[in-house]
Amino acid sequence: NGIWAVIPAAGRGTRFGGDIPKQYLEVAGRPLIAHALDALLAHPAIAGAVVALAADDARWPGWTLLHGKPLLRCQGGGERADSVLAALRAIPAHVDGGGLVLVHDAARPNLRGGDIDRLVAAAAQHGDGALLAAPVRDTLKRADEQGRVAGTEPRERLWRALTPQAFRRDALVAALESARAAGVVVTDEAMAMERVGAKPLLVEGREDNLKVTTPADLALARYLLSQ
Ligand code: CTP
Ligand code: MG
Repeated sequence: NGIWAVIPAAGRGTRFGGDIPKQYLEVAGRPLIAHALDALLAHPAIAGAVVALAADDARWPGWTLLHGKPLLRCQGGGERADSVLAALRAIPAHVDGGGLVLVHDAARPNLRGGDIDRLVAAAAQHGDGALLAAPVRDTLKRADEQGRVAGTEPRERLWRALTPQAFRRDALVAALESARAAGVVVTDEAMAMERVGAKPLLVEGREDNLKVTTPADLALARYLLSQ
């Protein structure tokens, strides 16, 4: 049956700025989204993928097959979770709903196969799912309303959530629907799962699996993908 991947790619890239949504910016000769899809579909555990695109997206190259695996498209929504939900619903009916799905940002071009291996292995063992994450390295300050330091946060058990994140599809659909019904905006899939009582496993991933959010991130991605 195999694991399906969903790639939310319907964002506008407002923090990045510019005319082209960041998932279509080119790095090492290909758009960011091509790198993200390639990393997923090249992996032997992944059987197919669904990409969620903005309704007015005129840049999608129309790929339907990558590494010999089906690549489907659907229309995304106003929030990231809406796009993920639409993509999860577009997975073909014959795929086992109790099976794992991986959710990965289109703007995260430097995913390595070894991280997919370890994430999938963890999620296969842990019923509540798993996510790639990196330990926080900086000292964390909490600000008061005047922008002064109000305190230093202990960072010992703090992690930055990365993608992919891996969950059983039916459980993730239910959790995202629940968040939507409650009007709660979730910024990753794990957060939706946590809301309904799950405790996903943190899997330490590579720190160079960066998300391109700002132009400085793009420069770093160019460097990493030219290696
Ligand atoms: N995304 C999506 N649908 C949305 C919002 C985001 O599919 N309504 C996708 C983005 O395309 C991206 C991923 O979710 O691949 C991570 O989101 P983010 O980095 O926040 O991208 P944008 O929302 O495009 O950027 P910004 O928040 O700066 O506008
Ligand atoms: Mg966003």
